[in-house]
Amino acid sequence: MLSNLYQSSSNFHVIPLKSDLRKDTLIGAEIAFNYNADGGDDSRLSRRLIDVKDLTESDLSLLRQALFEHSVIIFRNQQGVDPNTLPLLAAIWDDQVQSHHSGEIAALTATNNILSKNNAARIPRAKEVTILGQGSFDGYEGIPTLRLRHVNHLEFHDQPLSQEELGQGYTRFYRFHCDAPLYEKLPGKVTILHALKVPKSPRQKIKFENGQELELDAGATAFVSGARAFQLLTPEEQEFALNTIVQYAPRPYEWIQNCKATSDGLSIVTTGLEKPLEELTPWDPEKVQAHPMVWKNPLFPDRPHLQILGMCVKSLITIDPKTKERKVIDDLAEVRKICHSFQKKSMAPSYIYAHTWRDGDLVAFHNQGVWHTITGQLGDDDERETTDATEIARREVNKRLMWQCTMASGVPPEPFNQMLKTF
Ligand SMILES: [Fe+2]
Repeated sequence: MLSNLYQSSSNFHVIPLKSDLRKDTLIGAEIAFNYNADGGDDSRLSRRLIDVKDLTESDLSLLRQALFEHSVIIFRNQQGVDPNTLPLLAAIWDDQVQSHHSGEIAALTATNNILSKNNAARIPRAKEVTILGQGSFDGYEGIPTLRLRHVNHLEFHDQPLSQEELGQGYTRFYRFHCDAPLYEKLPGKVTILHALKVPKSPRQKIKFENGQELELDAGATAFVSGARAFQLLTPEEQEFALNTIVQYAPRPYEWIQNCKATSDGLSIVTTGLEKPLEELTPWDPEKVQAHPMVWKNPLFPDRPHLQILGMCVKSLITIDPKTKERKVIDDLAEVRKICHSFQKKSMAPSYIYAHTWRDGDLVAFHNQGVWHTITGQLGDDDERETTDATEIARREVNKRLMWQCTMASGVPPEPFNQMLKTF
């Protein structure tokens, strides 16, 4: 019985990803139903869907352990899962989970916010689940028309790839982040993604500054472990990070609406294009957020996670561990330079897990323990009506349909350095 080889519970066993996928990322495990490992009938695979009411105490314990240890866990063949399962699953990893998505009550439509560019919608029968993807879907989940956009770096990076590079199959990380509105609502501990339709585009590749390349599926979701990122810092940098609080801008995704990103998708090129604070949608200083630079893992208390939403950072507050003296760094170029220098150490193929989506995948990731980003160019956004069969087939290949759920937490991310709680 294979399940004897792995951590297991009543219903599942945990299979860490093979070393060629896992590399040095610290990321990734598949959660398989026990009968898969025991050589059971494969025809039952499509019918074995996650249902929270079927989970035993041993299942819950295993899933908690698996997520906080491996950061990204993958359930296969979940076609047909009830969308209302996603918010219920989120509660497994967050005993302070709230009853609403960490984003707005409905999908964002405000054109002054960079998060609305994907034309996402919510499922009417499961309001906490967002529909994401690429292409047109008529009547999906009772929604008359969906025009989903898989945003790509061409519209956001300061120096996008040339047509020649795109033709050679290169792409970029779009925007590394945790799922966090960084205003009013607190980030969720876990994000759950479900792939309903995966595009069949040719594989693409990302070139790093040092010339190394990472090959990945078009539309792969890329992850970096905040724990590995912390390990890559020098002892001095670790000391600084552990004693620093990151102050985010008010309504940060409006603040950077006119800004352009660095080529690695980690930060903003400082050009002074940030919106003046007085021109943002009115905001309440009480709802603006600051979080420690290094977050605690709920189950592995000796594992610090470097968690910075680099594009939204406004200033840093660093505390001298000996004198407890506070120093504010508010020169934006300097702030971004520090954060970027810490985060870019993880920009190498061996530290990045790029998930190759299969139809039916349901992926839960430790949103407070990894950074993630979409990748890839999935063809154009041609929305013109057509009856041309070749054109319809071409668009069909590029279509992508995903669900996403991040339930807000009732408590902020915990600092690894407990001393920061008093500041
Ligand atoms: Fe995200």
